[in-house]
Amino acid sequence: MEEITNVMEFEEIARQKLPKMVYDYYASGAEDQWTLKENRNAFSRILFRPRILVDVSNIDLTTTVMGFKISMPIMIAPTAMLKMAHPDGEYATARAASAAGTIMTLSSLATSSIEEVASTGPGIRFFQLYVYKDRNVAAQLVRRAERAGFKAIVLTVDTPRLGRREADIKNRFALPPSLTLKNFEGLDLGKMTVDKTSDSGLASYFVGQVDPTLSWKDVKWLQTITLLPILVKGVLTAEDAKLAVQNGVAGIIVSNHGARQLDYVPATITALEEVVKAAEGRVPVFLDGGVRRGTDVFKALAMGASGVFIGRPVVFSLAADGEAGVRKVLQMLRDELELTMALSGCTSIEEITRNHIITDWDPPRSLPSSRL
Ligand code: FNR
Repeated sequence: MEEITNVMEFEEIARQKLPKMVYDYYASGAEDQWTLKENRNAFSRILFRPRILVDVSNIDLTTTVMGFKISMPIMIAPTAMLKMAHPDGEYATARAASAAGTIMTLSSLATSSIEEVASTGPGIRFFQLYVYKDRNVAAQLVRRAERAGFKAIVLTVDTPRLGRREADIKNRFALPPSLTLKNFEGLDLGKMTVDKTSDSGLASYFVGQVDPTLSWKDVKWLQTITLLPILVKGVLTAEDAKLAVQNGVAGIIVSNHGARQLDYVPATITALEEVVKAAEGRVPVFLDGGVRRGTDVFKALAMGASGVFIGRPVVFSLAADGEAGVRKVLQMLRDELELTMALSGCTSIEEITRNHIITDWDPPRSLPSSRL
């Protein structure tokens, strides 16, 4: 096999290895998938203003997230049902994150439990929460995450209903019967089947269980049941960033759920700056969506992000090669970020500034022949 030289190449290997229903679930965006493409395209419109003749013989990628020192500002986003990608699913992901010295976020809808993931060994982990209609379920999950040593709750706020992912509808997507949503096993909510409606099994599961009434007052409620910091994931506007700060969240994740919810929202890198401005430095702002290169990470940091999370690159590398695949993805992004910093004249994360990038670059459509 030809050597893999970038993160994107894992997708094709995963596509060949996985059943179509599973690959489509992982890869899809909502409806026309405009935002899915835009999450990548928007990065490609940002250019660099590199500084030269800076001593870059030592580059420090370490940073601090929610008070925890990590090896680099690249973390793992929550993605559901990872045992469909590889039998070691969430364990392999947790071990790879820990080996890389970074944070893994475990999905509520994981195929391994909070306790199982904790038992894989040391590591800084966050727990992603979907709030079910039965509030005792959410309260119990939060308590279990606390007890298992997770360090923050990532409250997903962009999913009152599941977005329309047409491949899942065509494939009548459901969790294979050999797997369960492990966090809900004892609560009789662990199975997902396709019912008679023409929806995907996950969409029906959401309508049945996840609470569409969720509002800011529930963010306040969550603060009364846990001392863990709460990050809201799925903010795309200055208005909501201000409300998040007012409601006492510890951090904001600018996310469009990997373009799987509302189609035709901007790329996250496009929305980032207004959120950063509205947060006024009072809470850290993170970004996920379309991060596939070290240059993307640099661009997000230059626009004010305190770090980024990756989703699909983890899923596809896990499918391709288990824990080794996820380790490789984290290492490749790390190496690319380091190289980008070296070639831009930055020796630490703090040195990356807005002046290192250009966003209003206007591509010349045709140059006058005298200038060619
Ligand atoms: C997700 N995402 C997600 N988010 C969440 O809060 N809870 C979840 O269970 C899931 N599950 C999930 C499954 C799959 C297959 C994907 C691709 C995504 C969204 C995820 O956390 C993140 O926002 C995006 O994946 C980031 O975009 P990229 O890196 O995939 O482009």
